Amino acid sequence: MKHFINIRDIPSKELKKIILDAKKRKIKRKNFNTLESDKDSPLKGKLLIQMFEKSSLRTRLSFYIAIKQLNGGALTLRPDELHLSKGGESLADTAKIISTFGNAFMLRTDSERKLEILKKNMTIPLINGLSPNSHPTQVLSDVFTIEEIKKKPISNLQICWIGDSNNVLNSLIEASVKFSFKLNIGCPKKYKPYTKLLNWAKKNKGKIKIFYNSKDAAKGSDVIFTDKVISMNDKLNKHKKLKEFKNYKVNSIVMSYAKKDAIFLHCLPRGSEVSNDVFLGKQSKVFQQALNRIYVQKSILLYCFEKLR
Ligand code: CP
Ligand code: NVA
Repeated sequence: MKHFINIRDIPSKELKKIILDAKKRKIKRKNFNTLESDKDSPLKGKLLIQMFEKSSLRTRLSFYIAIKQLNGGALTLRPDELHLSKGGESLADTAKIISTFGNAFMLRTDSERKLEILKKNMTIPLINGLSPNSHPTQVLSDVFTIEEIKKKPISNLQICWIGDSNNVLNSLIEASVKFSFKLNIGCPKKYKPYTKLLNWAKKNKGKIKIFYNSKDAAKGSDVIFTDKVISMNDKLNKHKKLKEFKNYKVNSIVMSYAKKDAIFLHCLPRGSEVSNDVFLGKQSKVFQQALNRIYVQKSILLYCFEKLR
């Protein structure tokens, strides 16, 4: 069994295998109903336990549907109903019980430390469904969406991120190294990515450029990404932070600096970081991006169960 916690910990070869499997499975499901199982039923009878310490719509739905399409089932735990949240049971004991009842555990958490403790105590795969510093399942799915739309390997494309250096960008930086694609980042100087992560990327032949200007970052790009300025785990002065990002909104002017056939992606939910016309415009592929989470979660689950062909 394998965990799926951070993209940087997973070999490129395995990540590419996940994408390839998702491509093949998606094609094979044409005309299937949502809850119909894939023909090979690879996770027949397996139970995915999921828990969300933070809000979620897409991750919750996509993991539920993903395990059902693999012919398993899902149970969602509410943290406030567990002994754990009231201090009545340790995280280590909770992890051991989840491991004996279930076959995989997907957690959206407010703490990297919790993931570490769980990892030490679980004997079933642990999947990070978003943490303060990482959103690996989202970004792997976004690589899938980009290759699906652009019909070429992401290594031949220039990707641009405009906005906050948050969990999604951290995972995108890690993916840029693993998939070897060019990544331009446009952000205020004060909000540039962690030096430790940038140094890791540099050491591993990352092709990352940072611009303190959104137009320069967008120039010649194939994909423009952004995300909320205020993430769920942000405890800063939100009003002040929003003001500091006022020149980093993705609007039609910023889009005009990208390639003519550039696409716009956003993991959702959105705030004021993108104009309505771009978000709902022709270049925007955000709904296809959201739906693809199902296909990639399936192949992530199969990777965790060591069932990727
Ligand atoms: N993009 C994403 O993870 O959405 P949710 O927060 O709704 O799960
Ligand atoms: N960066 C956002 C992503 C939400 C899916 C957050 O952490 O709130």
